Amino acid sequence: MTTSQAAITLLGSNIGAQVSGVDLSRELSGAEKAFVHQALIDHHVLFFRDQSLEPVDIKRFAEGFGPLAPHPRGGPDYPEVMPFRSKQEPDFILGTEWHTDGSYSEHPPLGSMLYFREAPEAGAELAYANMHAAFEALSPQMTVYLKALTATHDVSRSRFGSDRQVKTSWSHPLISSHAVTGRPLLYFNSVYTARIDGVPTPESRAIIGFLREHVANPYFSVRIKVEPGSLVLWDNRCTQHLALWNFAPGSLAGLRTQIESVTP
Ligand SMILES: [Fe+2]
Repeated sequence: MTTSQAAITLLGSNIGAQVSGVDLSRELSGAEKAFVHQALIDHHVLFFRDQSLEPVDIKRFAEGFGPLAPHPRGGPDYPEVMPFRSKQEPDFILGTEWHTDGSYSEHPPLGSMLYFREAPEAGAELAYANMHAAFEALSPQMTVYLKALTATHDVSRSRFGSDRQVKTSWSHPLISSHAVTGRPLLYFNSVYTARIDGVPTPESRAIIGFLREHVANPYFSVRIKVEPGSLVLWDNRCTQHLALWNFAPGSLAGLRTQIESVTP
């Protein structure tokens, strides 16, 4: 077995850790895999620096967490690994509002991974928020109220949902729990949550407004500065994220991979 030098440095008080001593361009040892998997469960977002990766490396690392989703814009050899490039305006890869990926589907992705080949000289930042912390900051009264409710998440609300052939929406409980740890979490999406089910429209609007403000509390989040060679992996089940588009002029380019849900 390879001797592992893997180590963790916390990036925030309740979310985010940098993993050092791991070279993702080679097959990880069993101990390294276990270390990284546990780190993802513990810290929700993992940041690796100074990696030199090809699509084959990204695919090998990502598929250790679950099945990968082929993408129409993926390369011919590795359709699960999609090149992206964002310039002055963010494209659909890099949402600039708090969101979790694919909440409009019955089984939202387990996680996503971004590898950066290019980044502006001044760097670029991504922000991640811990939805366990968002749940724990609710008042007991609000927790009781939200636990009884579901919300409809609808992709057609977003600017990139309008070109979908089929309207995609799904209803999820507002208070859920993590599939691995069972820890409770707030499941709300500022982009896709269209309405709170079963309550009058003004009440739905008011609750959505409150939750939008609540999840944006900076106490729940961490900002991560990415550079060429950075890889960010996040647990999509208990986090939200956004890109801070504050670095023009410049562009971000790299490879994106999505890890599908492993629960049927
Ligand atoms: Fe996203």
